[in-house]
Amino acid sequence: MRTTRQLRTARVTVTTETRGRCLPTVLPTVTENLEGEPPMTPLVQLKSATKRFPNGRGGLHTAIRDVDLDVGAGQFVAVVGPTGCGKSTTLSLISGLQPASAGTVTVGGEPVRGIPEGVGYMFQSDAMLPWRSVLANVAAGPQWRGVAKDEARRRARDWIARVGLEGFENYYMHQLSGGMRKRVALAQTLVNEPRILLMDEPFSALDVQTRALMQQELLRLWAGSGAAVVFVTHDLEEAIVLADRVVVMTASPARVKASYQVHLERPRDVEELRTTTAFIDIYREIWKSLSSEVDLARKGQIRVA
Ligand SMILES: Nc1ncnc2c1ncn2[C@@H]1O[C@H](COP(=O)(O)OP(=O)(O)O)[C@@H](O)[C@H]1O
Ligand SMILES: [Mg+2]
Repeated sequence: MRTTRQLRTARVTVTTETRGRCLPTVLPTVTENLEGEPPMTPLVQLKSATKRFPNGRGGLHTAIRDVDLDVGAGQFVAVVGPTGCGKSTTLSLISGLQPASAGTVTVGGEPVRGIPEGVGYMFQSDAMLPWRSVLANVAAGPQWRGVAKDEARRRARDWIARVGLEGFENYYMHQLSGGMRKRVALAQTLVNEPRILLMDEPFSALDVQTRALMQQELLRLWAGSGAAVVFVTHDLEEAIVLADRVVVMTASPARVKASYQVHLERPRDVEELRTTTAFIDIYREIWKSLSSEVDLARKGQIRVA
């Protein structure tokens, strides 16, 4: 098993998988075993995870097949792949919302059965109840977990301030902009102090400027949290500016095609970073792998259409 502690990696591929075969890729500055380091169990681990759904015609549709993925504590991993390849399905297995059809999924070394403790989930759509204030929405999570109302509201106020919404505690969803709603969603998730944060294209409905702002905010909030993040996106730029590692998935059914370490210094300025040579080099490298999957997915759509 490879772990981040066993390998010292440069900013390129650790392993590359072609369809059906895993080829260990030793690139010029890639790997160096750190002997004597005990192997660590990753916080999140998928081993040959496969998910099949009924296809509505009496058969089964394979959404993901033999997915292997390790995420260490505190690590920020972005998962990219063409639309419809199985990214959300992968997250649903980690969150326990869906059981795997084959293979294993563990969180903290334990097989996932139901929603594991300490997992936070953030989707593209808001999870705010429109008839409740910002404060009541953010306090709802801790209250549901058994925290007394006053304490839940104290924690909620603290997080509302941390996401930059002090003074908006009594507002309702329809009174907030798209960016502000995302801030509420972040507070709603982070108030529960998750050790694993699962994010499914959370910013993809935002305009470009608001999206960059929210990416920056996410990095700021994550930096102090110690949480591991699995961030799904179809936007490679977003994946690189945010993550320690970018995992490329194949066209449907998704498998892990390749995994790239992103050695860009932190703290990061997401807008400035995009213009740097280091960023552009990494982008080109990963895009080589991703673009063929995007092409395959598009051809598949044309065949179906
Ligand atoms: N609950 C479900 N029932 C049936 N098919 C599903 C279900 N969820 C996802 N799928 C199918 O699995 C495939 C992967 O979907 P998804 O994981 O949502 O892709 P992505 O998030 O990469 O766009 C798609 O073909 C989708 O239609
Ligand atoms: Mg999806």
